[in-house]
Amino acid sequence: MKPTRTEACGNWILSRFPVTKLWNEHMAQYYAPKNFNFWYFFGSLALLVLVNQLITGILLTMNYKPDAQLAFDSVEYIMRDVNWGWLVRYMHSTGASAFFIVVYLHMFRGIMYGSFKQPRELIWIFGMLIYVCLMAEAFMGYLLPWGQMSYWGAQVIISLFSAIPVVGDDLSLWFRGDYVISDATLNRFFAFHVISVPLVLLLLIFLHIVALHEVGSNNPDGIEIKDKKGADGIPLDGIPFHPYYSVKDIVGVGVFLFFFAAVIFYAPEMGGYFLESANFIPADPLKTPEHIAPVWYFTPFYAILRAVPDKFAGVIAMGGAIVVLFLLPWLDRSPIKSVRYRGGIYKKALALFVISFVALGYLGTQPATAGAVLAARVFTAIYFGFFLLMPIYTRWEKTKPVPERVTEQPSLEDRIPAVIETFHEVTAKKSFTDTEGNTVEKLRPNPSGIANVLVRGLKKLKASLD
Ligand code: HEM
Repeated sequence: MKPTRTEACGNWILSRFPVTKLWNEHMAQYYAPKNFNFWYFFGSLALLVLVNQLITGILLTMNYKPDAQLAFDSVEYIMRDVNWGWLVRYMHSTGASAFFIVVYLHMFRGIMYGSFKQPRELIWIFGMLIYVCLMAEAFMGYLLPWGQMSYWGAQVIISLFSAIPVVGDDLSLWFRGDYVISDATLNRFFAFHVISVPLVLLLLIFLHIVALHEVGSNNPDGIEIKDKKGADGIPLDGIPFHPYYSVKDIVGVGVFLFFFAAVIFYAPEMGGYFLESANFIPADPLKTPEHIAPVWYFTPFYAILRAVPDKFAGVIAMGGAIVVLFLLPWLDRSPIKSVRYRGGIYKKALALFVISFVALGYLGTQPATAGAVLAARVFTAIYFGFFLLMPIYTRWEKTKPVPERVTEQPSLEDRIPAVIETFHEVTAKKSFTDTEGNTVEKLRPNPSGIANVLVRGLKKLKASLD
């Protein structure tokens, strides 16, 4: 039978470009472990936020002016006069924080399940390069609104480079293009933020996914599914990415968009964490704000910087805190990957690491009082201890037996009865008299129920750490 016009058109393309081959290799016949849990949503969510940033970024560029005289006003113009400009700007500013939330959770998943270990070292390295680029992208983007915090934040961070012996001063002069942050700095940051860094990011993300598809995904059990294949050569514990995970990821997207939209429409400044109040004042080189702090996603590293008394040593410690993450695949000497089957020492070390990272993040937002600096020193020691002692405690600790095949965990539906039971426990009906004298019953928090749930939760946490 003669092909229809559409089929002929399709065949013309297929004989020149491997659309079907690529689709099968990376989607329909790409076998992913069947036991992915919600931690595996964050990779696809990072892609979604990336697309959001690219589209809203292009739209913002249409009305933004990279000029020290005009930049601040052009952002106000976008917020007030451009049709839907406020939405585009809030989508972009909220997207920046969302990017870091999603990427931090994505990285934590990798650390929890040992996804950086052999044979996935390169996926991790590309991931870390993405993370560094993302920090550069966010840092340069933050200067563009030309508010007080944009200006002074950049001033503080770039002047850190002056602490480097011999070349420091020349280096920061070279970054700024001037002796202070100025129009020259704004112009080059704009160029980097809008074109150079996004291009590098896109390339790195492509390499990240290529490396992932070469070795295949890890999973919450940390078992290599390619080790157990059926007669057809397909991993016994693998399911095709499409339609199973392409559809499952939509659930993650739905939940994410719910929170993302809630922030955009109800709390776009997020109490000063996503958009700082000092940034609604135009940059003034003659007036230093009382308290300069970077945006929340940089604060753990900022706290490490301030924890070290010497400026240059502080810069080294701050850089070291990132470099040490690159080395993770070689610091971890455990024979197994997933936290599920590791011993109590690793679980406790990981818990302490998370606590210290969050605590450093908080301390970095606070003024550097003596108490805050002391606390930051303790948490900095824990942060580095987690990594630098890893070759010792991961090699010697006793691990649990790892199952042959991936295990089945209770699904979300299985957990619903327990969630409903907990809800009944933490709430109680109380009687009230309304304005017309009628007795009405209302649901109110039940302190004894809440205490029971908390104690149970803590006991469970303690048991899981052993
Ligand atoms: C723009 C940022 C990023 C994007 C778009 C991205 C995208 C993805 C995607 C789509 C996956 C597969 C799905 C999944 O496992 O969740 C993945 C896996 C992975 N990513 Fe990323 N990623 C990003 C940043 C990072 C960073 C910063 C790291 C770590 C430093 C990282 C480490 C990993 C690892 C280790 C895996 C394999 C996980 C496993 O198989 O268990 N990624 N990434």
